[in-house]
Amino acid sequence: MKALILSGGQGTRLKPLTNTIAKQLLPIANNPIIFYVLNQIKEAGITDIGIIISPETGNLIREAVGDGTRWGARITYILQTEPAGLAHAVKTANDFLGSSPFLMFLGDNLIQGGVRDFVSEFTRDTPDALILLKEVADPCLFGVANVDKNGEVIHLVEKPKQPQTNLALVGIYLFSPVIHQAIAQIKPSWRGELEITDAIQKLLDMGKRVRSHVLKGWWLDTGKKDDLLEANRVVLDEYLKRNVKGEIDPTSQIMGRVEVEEGAQVVNSTVRGPVSIAEGCKIRNSFIGPFTSIGESTIVENSCVEHSVILENCHIYGIARLEDSLLGKRVKLKQGAEPHKAMRLMVGDDAEVEL
Ligand code: DAU
Repeated sequence: MKALILSGGQGTRLKPLTNTIAKQLLPIANNPIIFYVLNQIKEAGITDIGIIISPETGNLIREAVGDGTRWGARITYILQTEPAGLAHAVKTANDFLGSSPFLMFLGDNLIQGGVRDFVSEFTRDTPDALILLKEVADPCLFGVANVDKNGEVIHLVEKPKQPQTNLALVGIYLFSPVIHQAIAQIKPSWRGELEITDAIQKLLDMGKRVRSHVLKGWWLDTGKKDDLLEANRVVLDEYLKRNVKGEIDPTSQIMGRVEVEEGAQVVNSTVRGPVSIAEGCKIRNSFIGPFTSIGESTIVENSCVEHSVILENCHIYGIARLEDSLLGKRVKLKQGAEPHKAMRLMVGDDAEVEL
């Protein structure tokens, strides 16, 4: 069994952040999203992993993931020259995949509990494909499935205007090599992409067997700002352990599950977990509230930050209340003369904001 991670695409819904960083490298609890994907693949016992990369962000992914030693895996990078769809990505990976069955994992998706059980079931029962589904409130934003009461898939549509069910396709799939025959028969969709959903529908048209599972636990699809904040909240809530390695002065209070990495300093401040503070951060005269991750060497002074993801080397000064915010790298945010109460921001790399 091989695995294929899709880390191409353009990250349009997270611009301007994705102008300078691949969306699969955006941090959740101070670790790139793709690291969690790799962890889940490792847990499933798969060590031969292909990663689809784009010309724009491929090198950043290569730098971050390296040769895969950290996961005991062998990584093959596969360049997809244009984001022509998920099925196009599989086509591009033909040489890597050969005739092996494979787990396909969108590099910005995560599920609670990982994929080990689904991989075992697929290996045991050998359907032609196994897909994961999740009940959602807004199915027209996803691929949508019709299934029978035994979980056999009957019909699939990509982003239907009038969805027939509320079962969205999660971006994690298991395929036998017959998927390549199906992909060879499909045409680009209205959005000009070769859709994996259409290829799976083609499997059904060919009389092949497609199984499904409806997920009970969380599913995180980190394509937009609020999804990323939610992913950060869930991962901090579920996985973060108290681990204080940085310096905390006697006037500060660290409450609950808080991670303060080496070289970070907390001075005259309160940090109420779950919170992750990366190496070299300086927190002075501030309050850092639950569900916040602060990237390397960021400085927070005289401010209150809650439920936010702040990337590295930012400077936040005199902000009475920053919440529900996602800040790129090197953002400078400081209070102007007229104070305001609450702010909700999405600010790209290198921005300077004076409020
Ligand atoms: O997240 C689940 C949804 O993912 C499914 O419900 C849909 O059926 C499926 O089509 C897909 O929809 P999106 O429109 O959200 O996919 P997106 O374009 O965001 O791409 C998902 C990931 O795949 C992302 O990490 C980028 C990568 N990708 C995307 C394209 C189009 C590639 O590597 N190559 C590509 O050509």
